[in-house]
Amino acid sequence: MGYNVAIDGPAGAGKSTIAKLVAKEKGYIYVDTGAMYRGLAIHFLKKGIDPENKEAVAKACQDAEVTIGYENGIQQIYLNGENVTEMLRTEEVGNMASKTSAIPEVREKLLDLQRSLAREKDVIMDGRDIGTNILPDADVKIYLTASVETRAERRYKELKEKGEKCDLAEISRDIRERDERDMTREIAPLKKAEDAVLVDSSDMTIKEVVDEICRHCR
Ligand code: DC
Repeated sequence: MGYNVAIDGPAGAGKSTIAKLVAKEKGYIYVDTGAMYRGLAIHFLKKGIDPENKEAVAKACQDAEVTIGYENGIQQIYLNGENVTEMLRTEEVGNMASKTSAIPEVREKLLDLQRSLAREKDVIMDGRDIGTNILPDADVKIYLTASVETRAERRYKELKEKGEKCDLAEISRDIRERDERDMTREIAPLKKAEDAVLVDSSDMTIKEVVDEICRHCR
């Protein structure tokens, strides 16, 4: 069994930024499970599937294979053998992932991949249900959150820096909707595991968050 750190929290809390830095500091492998849901979402988008049509989504899972690899230490996502990593981080893909991740067949599809990675390696794995469902016996569990306002502002800045057109009110609305969907779905909803350490990064620097999490890790 590898040494396992689970890090869960809502969209935009900074999980991936923080988890990558902790991984570097501690020598763990960083596993981004959201990217796996996004990989499957690309499959559904390519096939023109309506995310509200649960049967169609479940059926489409049968001809999708999501695998992961590492290039220079950076996680790559393959969909039926094609590297789709560069396509993952759009709002369209994120929304499709959020909607379809509520469907049991979608979660089932990715469960073994996530658990087998954690069995074999020392990992820090980020997602929504890692501490509660995927790795209930993780050595360390972190619930990383921040206020909606902080998360929206961070996302706004990030998009602005990339030169993309964006609207703060729209981003806030999107974040609220995504929180609502991720937290209220029937299976594996986002919630803090009872034994998780709560870290609210609203008024913390990246370094402070990384140091706080490293303090709990081996
Ligand atoms: O972390 P992210 O924004 O890349 O995740 C995209 C969506 O995938 C998220 O809105 C919900 C879903 N997801 C999930 O249901 N369970 C996980 N462990 C990770 C992500």
